[in-house]
Amino acid sequence: MEWNGNTVLVTGGSNGIGLALAVRLLARGNRVVICGRRQDKLDEARAAHPDLITVRCDVMRPEERMELLAYMNETYPEWNVLVNNAGIQQHVNVRRANEPWEHYEREIAINFDAPVHLTLAALPHLLEQPRAAVINVTSGLALAPAAWAPIYSATKAALRSFTESLRLQLEGSRVEVIEIVPPAVNTDLGGPGLHTFGVPVDDFADGVMAKLLAGAVEIGYADAERRLSLVPEELREAAKRMWSGFQARNSHF
Ligand SMILES: NC(=O)c1ccc[n+]([C@@H]2O[C@H](COP(=O)([O-])OP(=O)(O)OC[C@H]3O[C@@H](n4cnc5c(N)ncnc54)[C@H](OP(=O)(O)O)[C@@H]3O)[C@@H](O)[C@H]2O)c1
Repeated sequence: MEWNGNTVLVTGGSNGIGLALAVRLLARGNRVVICGRRQDKLDEARAAHPDLITVRCDVMRPEERMELLAYMNETYPEWNVLVNNAGIQQHVNVRRANEPWEHYEREIAINFDAPVHLTLAALPHLLEQPRAAVINVTSGLALAPAAWAPIYSATKAALRSFTESLRLQLEGSRVEVIEIVPPAVNTDLGGPGLHTFGVPVDDFADGVMAKLLAGAVEIGYADAERRLSLVPEELREAAKRMWSGFQARNSHF
């Protein structure tokens, strides 16, 4: 895959990892369309990077996913890269899960249903392009879950599995399948101020771009990269250590 001259759609590109990747893809001579729910965040991103193209879309809603793809197919018939990045993270105490089901379901809809639906619906178009890619943003928590975010971790494990099947089925086609496996990154994930412990988002995005340009299809970084080489028992231990650490820091959970 050449990483210039593409037309790229980044879901959730108005903040954090999506925005950092969008800006780098823009700088390399790609056209980049970003989407998100909040118009003010899209406007903010556009004000800072006037070449970004912004579309308001909530990928939680199946009909809005289809409208987004219809917009891309009509406005940019040559579009060829889908970056499934939009995601949310919720802390869930399974002993006190008293919210209505919609509260829990939305994490599944945004983190898993949306990338699968967008990918399946975009593939007929992508397979017709001279070159194309689907990039799915999973997580190091796909490998060893954060027990305090059980639904989030499960959606990322499911998306990682889907990505592997996708890659196998599309082998030999013009569509490259790439997985980005972030460690904890300092973004607004879970809400502003809740995820400040991660690696700086610009360092992470620079690292991802370097690997993307080198042709990697499974892109880890820092802890998440190390985790990719662990065996199941080591991953189980990692999950236990994370859970103990979380409990020690959050006695009220
Ligand atoms: N930060 C980390 O430590 C970390 C680690 C591993 C994986 N990841 C993954 O990286 C991806 C990006 O997360 P981030 O850390 O950059 O979080 P972030 O700073 O909260 O950014 C999330 C972006 O997604 C958008 N978004 C959320 N829900 C959406 C929806 N329903 N429809 C459309 N856009 C939506 C947000 O805009 P609106 O809110 O305006 O919609 C925002 O632009 C996620 O998939 C996340 O799971 C993050």
